[in-house]
Amino acid sequence: MSLKGSASGASAGARHALRVGVIGAGVMGSNHARVLAGLPDVTLVGIVDPLPEHRSRAIELVGCRAFADLDELFTEGVDAVTIAAPTHLHHEIALACITRNIHILVEKPIAPTVQEGRDIVAAARSAGVTLMVGHVERFNPAVAAIKQAISGEDILSIGITRVGPFPPRMSNVGVVIDLAVHDIDLIRWFTESDIVEVQPQLSSAIAEREDIALLQFRTASGVLAHINTNWLTPFKARNVTVATRGKYVMGDLLTRQVTECFGFKPDGSYSMRHLPVGHDEPLRAELIAFLESVRTGSVPAVSGDEGVASLEIAIRCLESPARPAASTARKGPRRIAG
Ligand SMILES: NC(=O)c1ccc[n+]([C@@H]2O[C@H](COP(=O)([O-])OP(=O)(O)OC[C@H]3O[C@@H](n4cnc5c(N)ncnc54)[C@H](O)[C@@H]3O)[C@@H](O)[C@H]2O)c1
Repeated sequence: MSLKGSASGASAGARHALRVGVIGAGVMGSNHARVLAGLPDVTLVGIVDPLPEHRSRAIELVGCRAFADLDELFTEGVDAVTIAAPTHLHHEIALACITRNIHILVEKPIAPTVQEGRDIVAAARSAGVTLMVGHVERFNPAVAAIKQAISGEDILSIGITRVGPFPPRMSNVGVVIDLAVHDIDLIRWFTESDIVEVQPQLSSAIAEREDIALLQFRTASGVLAHINTNWLTPFKARNVTVATRGKYVMGDLLTRQVTECFGFKPDGSYSMRHLPVGHDEPLRAELIAFLESVRTGSVPAVSGDEGVASLEIAIRCLESPARPAASTARKGPRRIAG
């Protein structure tokens, strides 16, 4: 490849427009490009995708340029890229960018394996480029309100429900890597602690991989947490509850309503209030945070190490194989003890 690569000078001096590219013009990449095209001090150089129909769709939706391969984007010169290609390509694409000193935001999960994730982290560190992982839920204003509500509290337990119908395109991962990894990241972020114990229950009702997962965790700080996720619910739901010694916080991540119960009295009474929640589009907030850390050289909001740690826990959850879901009625009468 004969490439210009990084447009350089990203962190030096006055605020100039960063030259940014997007890799992958699928569902997420098109959204990245749409948001980047509307950000101040950003020049969206273009979007890369090998599929002509995906390139045409991006050109039509976003009005940006589109390239058939990475080299064309590198030749244009970019300071930073977001990688929204399929997960199995993250490693190869991330390393190609890092070698050219291009800062990267990698969609979640950072890679298909922990080793590949660690390789990306090590390469970014030794090249001194910014690496952020796209755990976009952290930028959901409802999640930010929950995080603020529990700040300084003694957290006891966390429950997260993330359910919905089967995705229109079935990928080669199950609900744990596709969905639960968001919540594993949230549990680690809320508790600011590592997950040290994992008790997964997985089942496959329709898909080959797990499509139902009930995951229990204990963090190093002693918090108990569980995730209930599946692709068998006819509607989407994303709910978080956090119990602390002083509060019970409930958040609906879709309606963005966050409520806290507090002031528990010996007679069982308590007070309740809705908390203020912002209106930002999570992806916009995420991309602004990424570009800010590119400009300033500060530690990104979701580091590569955090992305790897969440992936590692998700993969540990997959160590026990998914069993077929109970589709047949109970055989024989229930045993009665005694
Ligand atoms: N943060 C989130 O909430 C979230 C949600 C969905 C997907 N994702 C992640 O985003 C990534 C993409 O997922 P998606 O749902 O957009 O998938 P998608 O299949 O819609 O898009 C992937 C795109 O990458 C393109 N592609 C394939 N090979 C490429 C290459 N060598 N170079 C550039 N582009 C290439 C494909 O043609 C396709 O257009 C995955 O890692 C996925 O886990 C994150």
